[in-house]
Amino acid sequence: MQRMITTDLRIFLAKSNIDLNLRRLISYIAITSKYISSKIHEANRKFAGTTNFSGEEQLELDKAADEIFIQRMKHCPYVKEMASEEQDETINVILPEQGEEAVYSISVDPLDGSSLVDVNLAVGTIVGIHYGQFLGRTSMVAAMYILYGPLTTLVLTTGQGTHEFVLNPEGEFILGEENIKMKEQGKIYAPGGLKEKWTKEHAQYIGELEKEKYKLRYSGGLVPDFNQILLKKGGIFTYPALIDAPNGKLRLLFELQPMAFIIEQAGGFAINGKADILDIIPNSLHQRCPVYFGSQYEIELAKKCLNEKEESINNKEKLREEELNNVETKKEIYEVMIEEN
Ligand code: F6P
Repeated sequence: MQRMITTDLRIFLAKSNIDLNLRRLISYIAITSKYISSKIHEANRKFAGTTNFSGEEQLELDKAADEIFIQRMKHCPYVKEMASEEQDETINVILPEQGEEAVYSISVDPLDGSSLVDVNLAVGTIVGIHYGQFLGRTSMVAAMYILYGPLTTLVLTTGQGTHEFVLNPEGEFILGEENIKMKEQGKIYAPGGLKEKWTKEHAQYIGELEKEKYKLRYSGGLVPDFNQILLKKGGIFTYPALIDAPNGKLRLLFELQPMAFIIEQAGGFAINGKADILDIIPNSLHQRCPVYFGSQYEIELAKKCLNEKEESINNKEKLREEELNNVETKKEIYEVMIEEN
């Protein structure tokens, strides 16, 4: 019988040409996710009786996942600072004996979608790794998420494509799919936010997708919903600006920018309706932002529907300007003619 050749995360990273300490940090986070996974399986469903910075009720599991991350990062020599969705401020995790090695800052949502544990749906951990400060595209060097579903998978980018690893029974993350590539168009849509609070433009966009017979796929967990779009290689996930929440719900630093890096590296797109998510420099730790993650066709359609009104105003203004210029030119020609006669 032929032996199957498998590549695990460590071997995969060793073959890449990224910084050794970054490789070690990624492996460290991968191990941390196994600790979190074991907590989930203890069915830690109870409410902790506390709320996080965003006012959401915390489960004991949220707190446990956060605590695991903080403790692990405190012992990781490559991280100087950590921002967690469960904490109000960044945490300085640098140890006194640490020297120049501690150059990375990480943003983490330790257990995104934790309210779904209760009903046994998939949840995930999202991590962004930055060199220095949190400055969007300029500082982000790697991003990953771990999805705790029927399988535990880890999706990673270090800026050299997007790759998926699957946790095997021996506890190794084995390469499942290398270089995930999004198609130009997909067939599914995951529309977040209460429908009655959608803007007219967003509702029109969703209407267009429905006319084109897109299938609804929404579980209420960002990690599994995003993972479905990515692994099916197309479609759209949105959590838009709402009438009573113009910045939507999801957090730029903890949820959106890591996912944006991952989808861009797979040939997809991540916008807030107009600008690339990665081009936005966060002005506060818990900043929220509307989002559209998807393949080319769906993103272009979103831009068209969302900005049509603004574009038509701009076009009208341009036309008016051109007309004025024409009148001016005609006037000048006329004056010259008069002068010459
Ligand atoms: O931010 C937490 C989260 O649970 C995400 O994982 C998910 O995409 C979103 O909220 C779901 O929000 P809603 O319940 O409003 O659809």
